[in-house]
Amino acid sequence: MRALLTAVLGTLAIIGTAHGAGTPSIKAPQLQTLPPLREQAELVDAWTEERKALIPSLLHKYGIGAWLMSQREYAEDTVFWALKEATQFSARRRTTHLFLANPKPGTPPAYSWIDNTDAVWTELRHVLEEQQPATIALNTHPEIAFSGGLHAGELDMISAALGKEWADKFVLETMLAVEVIATMVPGRLLWYKKMQETAWAIIEEAFSEKIIVPGKSTAWDIEWWMRDKIQSLNYTTWFQPSVFIVTEDDFPALRDDPRAPDHIIQYGDLIHTDFGVSALGLNTDTQHLGYVLYPGETKADVPQGMVNGLKKVNRLQDIVKDNMVIGMTGNEILKASLNQMHSEGIEGKIYCHATGEWGHSAGTVIGMTNLQDKVPVLGDLPLLKDTYYSIELFAEHFVPERNQTLKFAQEEDVYWDSETNRWEWVYGRQEELLLIKTPRADDISQIPMEL
Ligand SMILES: *[C@@H]1O[C@H](CO)[C@@H](O)[C@H](O)[C@H]1NC(C)=O
Ligand SMILES: *[C@@H]1O[C@H](CO)[C@@H](O)[C@H](O)[C@H]1NC(C)=O
Repeated sequence: MRALLTAVLGTLAIIGTAHGAGTPSIKAPQLQTLPPLREQAELVDAWTEERKALIPSLLHKYGIGAWLMSQREYAEDTVFWALKEATQFSARRRTTHLFLANPKPGTPPAYSWIDNTDAVWTELRHVLEEQQPATIALNTHPEIAFSGGLHAGELDMISAALGKEWADKFVLETMLAVEVIATMVPGRLLWYKKMQETAWAIIEEAFSEKIIVPGKSTAWDIEWWMRDKIQSLNYTTWFQPSVFIVTEDDFPALRDDPRAPDHIIQYGDLIHTDFGVSALGLNTDTQHLGYVLYPGETKADVPQGMVNGLKKVNRLQDIVKDNMVIGMTGNEILKASLNQMHSEGIEGKIYCHATGEWGHSAGTVIGMTNLQDKVPVLGDLPLLKDTYYSIELFAEHFVPERNQTLKFAQEEDVYWDSETNRWEWVYGRQEELLLIKTPRADDISQIPMEL
């Protein structure tokens, strides 16, 4: 029954005009298909080469002589994933990389070993003796995953194998791994935009009468429809999509369990999704809102309080985007943004993070849902250019039609545009609620002829 109804409504959606999502200037987002796997591998490998080429200048920037990364199969350093080839699915045996800031003339700037004998240590010692780096950076950060990926057992092994002379030169440079992972080389943007468009298109389809049958579909039905849709497009994802009905007391982001309880979606519900897709070594992160119209209602019937709630959170997005000054720490940006938010009479929370290489990627964070004064350690890192960020936040708004204050949560990805020296939306930002439009039962004018 359900499948039949969905199919009928699907036909209706095609015949009806596209419903209003996003800014009017944005055409309806389209699903973007991926090239064959072999072409994908070529694309990704070219981006990885561009990234590897940045390493010598980053070693100079942070005053490091050499960077040593070592791991065994299935116990990879976090940085491994950003530097591997597309056809590598894990480290093999012991996989060891050494990058040098100032290689002696005629010697290479980087070395790699894949070995399961002591030869790797003999050869590594030989290279170090020849090159004499003053410092050797290891990824040993106690708090930051991206700079702390060296496994404890591997550190013991390296220290024993290289001996005290070299172990005395070990240093930690937090920003080295962070910047290597965070930097989004220019070639990636075209595909990141396509992936973002795909994410928008999936959300638009999910939050439409084609998929949602008010009174029947539950929030989790929509989550699993989104999972299947991602799979059908040969994309993957990095978190379970979330769909929930916005009420005064139910806001998953503020609870320990981010998964909201399942409920049937009803007419008049304000619904929210947090959704991302993964492909080509990239990840997106988006939150949009929708409203379930009563049968026969149109856009003009959306409660004005909800329209205004979205406007308010749009304003908060602008405030944060304008305060994201390169070189400032996440905590400084958080403070400036919250001050401006309060001075404009907005109540809300700000919790933005780097994205792209990982869903929650390397780089400073600008608030967390439970940390609005400052975020220790991560919030003290400087904001880097040539990165992608998720502007993630909510504004509270009193909705008179509900007699309730609701949290209007949004998340949109931005990229640093080195030509305009500004953050730009990767695809756009939501400025109109997605609408689930059910025709009136007696309205035969909306029923297609062929039925
Ligand atoms: C998904 O991959 C399969 C197998 O490679 C291919 O036949 C199909 O066309 C792909 N689908 C999309 C939507 O790209
Ligand atoms: C609105 O809510 C407040 C507090 O929750 C309640 O006291 C008041 O009676 C409500 N107003 C209406 C019109 O329902």
